[in-house]
Amino acid sequence: MEVPFARPSLTEADGAAVAEAVASGWVSQGPRVAAFEAAYAERVGAPDAVATTNCTTALHLALYVSGVGPGDEVIVPSLSFIATANAVWQCGATPVFADIDPLTYNLDPASAERAITERTKAIMPVHQVGLPADMDAFALLADRHGLAIVEDAACAIGAEHQGRPIGSLGNLTCFSLHPRKVITCGEGGMIAVSDPLVAERLRRLRQHAMDRSAAERHAADRVVVEHYPERGWNARMTDLQAAVGLKQLEVLELILGERRRLAERYNELLGGMPTVETPKEPAYAKRTWQSYPLRVLPEAGVSAADLMDALLHDGVATRRGIMAIHHEASYANCAGALPHTDAAAEDFVLLPLFPGLSDEQQDYVVDRVGAWTGAVIQA
Ligand SMILES: Cc1ncc(COP(=O)(O)O)c(C=O)c1O
Repeated sequence: MEVPFARPSLTEADGAAVAEAVASGWVSQGPRVAAFEAAYAERVGAPDAVATTNCTTALHLALYVSGVGPGDEVIVPSLSFIATANAVWQCGATPVFADIDPLTYNLDPASAERAITERTKAIMPVHQVGLPADMDAFALLADRHGLAIVEDAACAIGAEHQGRPIGSLGNLTCFSLHPRKVITCGEGGMIAVSDPLVAERLRRLRQHAMDRSAAERHAADRVVVEHYPERGWNARMTDLQAAVGLKQLEVLELILGERRRLAERYNELLGGMPTVETPKEPAYAKRTWQSYPLRVLPEAGVSAADLMDALLHDGVATRRGIMAIHHEASYANCAGALPHTDAAAEDFVLLPLFPGLSDEQQDYVVDRVGAWTGAVIQA
């Protein structure tokens, strides 16, 4: 049996929405981007939201408006996709890696506090694979040390922290719309913003800091000459992407529900195996199940990497768990001791999880994991 790793939840409705956008004649950033921003902000409980080309540019812009620049340090987890650190570097600042909490695999507030120096400007907690970080602790830390917080919520649309949606807690929360995420529009990013003035500045910065939007210029009945009071970037989303994004928001709850059902089914089927550890959902959090991270225990007698090879041989596509950024050559010698990060980077496998995965396919994945780890399921 063949089991793919992931598949975006796209249908003919998404294609039809793109066709409509094409027919409208407005294909670059326009009215559909504005509508997508408004709908997104409403869903995540934020006063405003600003669309960008992807989550990495969203993080870069969010750090920039937080005042992060050359000479500054930003505390990040090393256990994250490399974009987390690259966004800090793109600001000319230095990512400072702190360790994770081994229970949640999210940035540990105590380790983050130990990493603070007089150059620290911001902390970037990551809601890893859609599991909210301990935001109460980070809010206290930021208050105590006068630091900004930028949340990397790449995988976290629909996640909740103590009943509040991720996107409604802080000032700047950045989401990804890449096909591996909960919803997608091919590529795309979104910044949930609490301060309307900051949102307006972000809208300018994403188009070279131009002081007039394209919509304003089109609507004007006389020639409008734009100016560039500061320097900026091109981080514009297109209306073609936003057309898909709007359709995806309509089915978000269905996608989240199906991901949860499948994850809980994995928990039930794998929970009795003494060779693996299933992911947890702490009482304060509701996760999105953007991925299903399975920890391979020493009792398995097989490494996570070898298990992935074996599963692939059986037709089951998996991915390695979350990477440790400081293990890569591009960030070598950039971190002190991060024992929990080092362990987590070796031990995890992400199993197939996407709406449309059949019970039969899921049973097969579980059967193969059991076979290769020599597990006898405990009743
Ligand atoms: C934690 C995290 N941050 C940032 C990103 C970057 O997102 P994008 O590909 O939209 O730039 C990703 C994407 O995988 C991610 O997982």
